Amino acid sequence: MKLIRSILEMQAESDRLRREGNKIGVVPTMGYLHDGHASLIRKAKQLTDVVITTLFVNPTQFGPGEDFQRYPRDFERDKTIASSAGADIIFNPEVSEMYPAHYKTYIEVEKVSKILEGKFRPTHFRGVTTIVSKLFLATKPHVAVFGQKDAQQAFIIRQMARDLNFDVEIVVAPIVREHDGLAMSSRNVYLKPAQRSKVSALYESLRYAEIRVNEGERSVEKLRKEMTKIIRRSNPTRIDYIAFVEQNSFSEVKIIKPPGVLIALAVKFGSTRLLDNISVTIS
Ligand code: PAJ
Repeated sequence: MKLIRSILEMQAESDRLRREGNKIGVVPTMGYLHDGHASLIRKAKQLTDVVITTLFVNPTQFGPGEDFQRYPRDFERDKTIASSAGADIIFNPEVSEMYPAHYKTYIEVEKVSKILEGKFRPTHFRGVTTIVSKLFLATKPHVAVFGQKDAQQAFIIRQMARDLNFDVEIVVAPIVREHDGLAMSSRNVYLKPAQRSKVSALYESLRYAEIRVNEGERSVEKLRKEMTKIIRRSNPTRIDYIAFVEQNSFSEVKIIKPPGVLIALAVKFGSTRLLDNISVTIS
């Protein structure tokens, strides 16, 4: 596995790989890799010849007072996980390489960046779309794989790729979970043991809603009330949102109609914010 730290070197390597007829896949990450990330790398490896995993903790997607400084980092472990999942190249630039002094350009997807996560983290998606654009321009991929874990992020990146005519196929892969249903996340290490033993309530609430929808419940208000009860049992510090959105527009619904709904939530335990979602299809 090759390690590249400069944008120019990354671009030259991708140009060479393309000239030789290789299909390039990229998996953007902020490191501290887990099985969820590894599943994206394996997916990219199925779809392409050469897989680049990017490891970059992106300062512009963290708000003031968020966890940029303390975001978990373990480069040696990341190298092992990426390599055994099938990555061929790690692109790991410094912050000063991606954002040199006098950096001025940002990419913003309107409207959808301001709802759900965007309400609580107003500059977050602007940072995500900016860095993902820069990572695409550095790695020149044919295919990019993202996780359904961050469903709104994946939706926004698809919209951006379409709007800016990025010649990149966006693939979204399923959520990988721990044995008790907790969605894997680099931030799960922040949870104290007492919190960790209770946070499976998030997935429990999503599964409960899925079952109720399959039984015929269509009222979002009723489902939200029942989900709130289940989540409250885990002693959360705050439920930021439990949102029911149309999959293809991300607009919120009050009544569930075919083809179904994406139920997305964000809940805080102490200073740790956890996200999860489930997609429910009905006919
Ligand atoms: P990060 O949180 O490291 O996640 C990198 C990718 O892994 C994202 O596409 C995310 O949705 C996916 N992922 C995380 N947990 C997952 C899980 N349990 N199952 C499946 N996929 C999972 O998302 C980011 O980094 C950043 O915003 C980034 C896109 C890299 C831009 O900085």
